[in-house]
Amino acid sequence: MTNIELIDRNKLPQHIAIIMDGNGRWAKEKGKLRVFGHKEGVESVRDVLEGAVDLGVPYLTLYTFSTENWKRPKLEVTALMELLVSSIAKETRTMMKNGVRLNAIGNLDELPSKAVKSLKKCMEDTSTNTKCTLTLALSYSARWEITDAVKSIAKAAVEGEVDVNNITETTFAQYLNSYPLPDPELMIRTSGEKRISNYLLWQLAYAELYFTDKLWPDFRRADLYEAVLEFQNRERRFGLTSEQLK
Ligand code: IPE
Ligand code: IPE
Ligand code: MG
Repeated sequence: MTNIELIDRNKLPQHIAIIMDGNGRWAKEKGKLRVFGHKEGVESVRDVLEGAVDLGVPYLTLYTFSTENWKRPKLEVTALMELLVSSIAKETRTMMKNGVRLNAIGNLDELPSKAVKSLKKCMEDTSTNTKCTLTLALSYSARWEITDAVKSIAKAAVEGEVDVNNITETTFAQYLNSYPLPDPELMIRTSGEKRISNYLLWQLAYAELYFTDKLWPDFRRADLYEAVLEFQNRERRFGLTSEQLK
């Protein structure tokens, strides 16, 4: 039996967030340049996306480029931005075939105009697809997102659109860049690192965290299914006792 057959389709995580990490180390292991790892990483994106669609996961969010990643060598940053543009163009067909809608979060104003253009075009082309929303976190960091939300809500309060006494967790969440995506239920990080690296800090409050030593270019749909299986075997208590859940 393959893992997909072991998965309970009635208990799927509705939103899976992934930190795709380890491209550089994957390339280094092979004596190649880091960018070679990023290119191979695109193959993993395609396979994992198709795997998620086949399973019936409606939301997949991928940490593609962080605010902190701007500090990498210029050559690598340029190569990543070019790869983004070429991959979007190449993968639009796969997205159409699979009913995937492209979405993006992050400070997109920081991206090169070519990248913004191709993102917008693909988002438009795929806007009526309904099977899965693929969100790319680009020039994204959770502290940027939260600070930005604070600014917007403060402005709304000053302008009298929001009553400070009525601000709840739900109202605040509406000011986050990721709104209206549901909170991820499962967060996967590859490459053996066990940290969040400024990813979806608010939204991951109660996500199940799954870490694997596999480097991102080696991570494929079977690995996604393994993570989902483990997710289904965990008891999510949300502060309650085990007995209360029974
Ligand atoms: C993840 O792989 C891709 C990005 C952060 C853009 P890395 O490039 O971080 O690979 P490692 O962690 O150096 O191996
Ligand atoms: C996190 O990976 C960002 C992305 C995967 C896009 P990094 O490789 O940049 O994270 P750190 O710096 O090692 O924590
Ligand atoms: Mg890394």
